[in-house]
Amino acid sequence: SYDTKIIDYDFPFEGPFGSYDQMQLQRGLQVYTEVCAACHGLRYVAFRNLHDEGGPGLPEDQVAAYADFYEIWDPTLFDGEGDFRAATPNDKFPQSSLSNAPDLSLMAKARAGFHGPYGTGISQFINGMGGPEYIASLLTGYTGEDKEEAGVILYENTAYPGGWIAMAPPLYGDDVIYADDAPTDIDSVSKDVAAFLMWTAEPKLNQRKQAGLTGVIFLSVLAVLLYLTNKRLWAPIK
Ligand code: HEM
Repeated sequence: SYDTKIIDYDFPFEGPFGSYDQMQLQRGLQVYTEVCAACHGLRYVAFRNLHDEGGPGLPEDQVAAYADFYEIWDPTLFDGEGDFRAATPNDKFPQSSLSNAPDLSLMAKARAGFHGPYGTGISQFINGMGGPEYIASLLTGYTGEDKEEAGVILYENTAYPGGWIAMAPPLYGDDVIYADDAPTDIDSVSKDVAAFLMWTAEPKLNQRKQAGLTGVIFLSVLAVLLYLTNKRLWAPIK
């Protein structure tokens, strides 16, 4: 494992009863749009998903207005030669515009914040995988030091494995103005965008937990009924 510092931030979707906070997802979408989208893409997320239940829940007219703001390449236009056009809700977000910036659609599931101890996975069993914690810790983990190596500027970051990342600090605090007056300090904004990226990576988390809870209740009732049935069946023999 690496000598990195991951802060165990609290998220509303943690634990068996946790669920996404719609307002937090909307704030995270805003941070993504205004800051991260300059370099990163979300190629697996369709604009229409922003309307889905359990997600940011934007009204359909707002989704259409939001999509219209993006230009995408449509290979069917201009007699098959292709042309740019405004995106519609059925299109996906663009890919990363900066070639070395990875797509963020699945990043919250592709990274783990908690490791070990010694490869046992006990920390992950107790604390969860820690993908969103890793992202938030990465955004808040810059030390302010940088160096140049083979023509690339690297920034020291306490959450990044190896300690030096090619991404310049994207957030400083007060980077956005929220409509809901939520705090905009760097920790809060980092958590909001990390929560949004958890939703892009696992859009059905709310439904999954709901189905799991229904299943547990159903099986508990079934267990009681089977117990009583068993008693009844064996009553004449015992
Ligand atoms: C890498 C998130 C803004 C450029 C990454 C990684 C994440 C991330 C999670 C992957 C780190 C890893 O591999 O473990 C974000 C978020 C942003 C943001 C949430 C907005 C708040 C930006 C911006 C730029 C950028 C604005 C360009 C100016 C890069 C690059 C990498 C990277 C070049 C690759 C770094 C490396 O491999 O060393 N980002 N990013 N990011 N990001 Fe960002």
